[in-house]
Amino acid sequence: TENTVTVITVLGASGYLAKSKVYPVLWTMYRKSLIPRSSLFVGYARSKFTSEEFMGRLRPHLEASEEDATLLDKFLHRCEYQVGTYDEEESFRKLNEYIDLRVAAKGKLYSNRVFYLALPIPVIKTVTEHLSKHCQAQAGWTRIVLEKPFGTDLESFKSLSAHLLKSFKEEQIYRMDHYLGKEMVQNLLLLRFGNRIFHSVWNRNHIKAVIISVKEPTALGVYNTYFDQQGIIRDMIQNHLLQLASLVAMEAPLTPKADDIRKEKLKCLRCFEQVTSDNVVIGQYTASADHCGYREEEGVGAASNTPTFAVARLNIRNDRWDGVPFLLKCGKGLNENKAEVRIQFKENAGEIFNGTHRNELVLRVQPKEQVQLKMDVKQPGMSFDTAQTHLDLSYPERLQLAAAPTAYERLLIDVIQGNTTNFLTAAELEEAWRIFAPVHADIDARKIQPEAYTYGSRGPESADAFIKDAGYQYEQYD
Ligand code: BG6
Repeated sequence: TENTVTVITVLGASGYLAKSKVYPVLWTMYRKSLIPRSSLFVGYARSKFTSEEFMGRLRPHLEASEEDATLLDKFLHRCEYQVGTYDEEESFRKLNEYIDLRVAAKGKLYSNRVFYLALPIPVIKTVTEHLSKHCQAQAGWTRIVLEKPFGTDLESFKSLSAHLLKSFKEEQIYRMDHYLGKEMVQNLLLLRFGNRIFHSVWNRNHIKAVIISVKEPTALGVYNTYFDQQGIIRDMIQNHLLQLASLVAMEAPLTPKADDIRKEKLKCLRCFEQVTSDNVVIGQYTASADHCGYREEEGVGAASNTPTFAVARLNIRNDRWDGVPFLLKCGKGLNENKAEVRIQFKENAGEIFNGTHRNELVLRVQPKEQVQLKMDVKQPGMSFDTAQTHLDLSYPERLQLAAAPTAYERLLIDVIQGNTTNFLTAAELEEAWRIFAPVHADIDARKIQPEAYTYGSRGPESADAFIKDAGYQYEQYD
């Protein structure tokens, strides 16, 4: 109502996540009027900054065209800063007083509050406890947003999760996986359940293998001790890639509403068998001519065994999928920037031509959104030779992508609108930890060593053989 103001508080406001992701999104939302211009933005952290200093730190991360320069200034002046600790109640009482005062100064009676926790794991428990006790809106809603890491193993996850649920109700907790906000990831459900031609062949009778691969050409994200403690499986595979796998594999939800979708995703995740060390290849990059090896990176232990690459083979034990390998492959310091889902169909049965190829549906998530259907046609001319080609739906030429919000924008709008569809439930996360528990235990006990690959290459050599053995036919077209 007109008596209410939205207050977005970013905890950990001086950190990397806040500067590089959260504030740029808040700025875009403000600029595009996706949130009311009257909203208040409060940064909270331990560092003692003046408001001027805080603005100075944010500015380099916020892009604005010339005509938006004044608007950016206005936005920056709305980015207030409050210093405080993460463990003392007094700090949170003060934060609450501050928010109340600012709301009153705007001439409003009520507030809706988002608390974005851009914080390291060790402080999450105390922070959520104090927030719940001291900083909830009196009239109006309060929501908290958290991102991974949700613990470091099944036990620590359960303890964190139980703790959160003591402080906040389930519907107040938004557990974020930003891949769920990407346009092509959201498109998966429509593609699958809105097109009869796919719907009917989407099972083990017709599908040979599924591969989901996210390749990063840089070492982005490894320049800190966080990555070294987590490794690529916790950082990417068991959240972003597993979420994609569950969207590919789940049964049709009753409706496209949050509860129905989340219910089906969970049911599907429960069918995934655990991943043992026989079902993975892990790798770690070594130096190339112009980039150092992983162990030489800042913040990384000199003898670190943390994987920067992994491919895992998963089996889903249900009637639709049993026996179809789901290959989840991901790495840093690889030869290209590409994220895609490939559904490879079986060979033709009763083949009458000389060598047709497996059909493949490719959903490219980034860098350029695209759907391709790989198929065979007749080579023009007198013979019946086959030519491999594809139907190509490249987004920029065919659909209005520019209008779509980015992943973080979409998800933050969802938070403000109270839409939980694209957020994770605790039960889903628990399944993710269960699925990967054996392989984490083996890596931690050093029972599997990462295989070396050169920075900028395609990854460890045995990965290709592993994928081929699993039944996926590699690079048959490009
Ligand atoms: C983050 C990981 O969740 O996702 C990073 O922690 C990774 O390590 C990033 O670089 C990749 O996200 P995107 O959207 O650039 O593919």
